[in-house]
Amino acid sequence: MAETDKDELFRAALDVRARAHAPYSGFPVGVALRTEAGNVYAGCNVENASYPEGACAETGAISAMVAGGGGQIIELCVVGDSEAPISPCGGCRQRIAEFGSVDTIVHSADPGGIRETWRLGDLLPVAFGMGGGS
Ligand code: THU
Repeated sequence: MAETDKDELFRAALDVRARAHAPYSGFPVGVALRTEAGNVYAGCNVENASYPEGACAETGAISAMVAGGGGQIIELCVVGDSEAPISPCGGCRQRIAEFGSVDTIVHSADPGGIRETWRLGDLLPVAFGMGGGS
């Protein structure tokens, strides 16, 4: 069976999660995103002994996208192993919005596969810079 876009994102996010630097939380996270041009970029969380200096996986994936030429985020998959499906933190929702739209698809997965799918507009309603505010 052909691999779908979301399968590809899940696999890429799971792969990069294995390289996360999360010794303080013990909670490795991987993210992969796809742009409108069809390019896939991935990132993992990178924590720091000075805790607030840590960066989320979404931040890393977005940095890789911008460094790789930029684009608009069409679809994204975040992988973390938690009881309730992982969802991007508030700050990362805003970061995704910078390069996405209300229709950007956000998949939440654990290592076994995708568990939930949302629209960014539902995760971050009335967002600043995404049709409102700016
Ligand atoms: N984390 C992410 O990288 N992405 C998310 O969507 C949720 C949380 C990271 C931040 C921190 O390194 C660890 O997970 C525990 O909060």
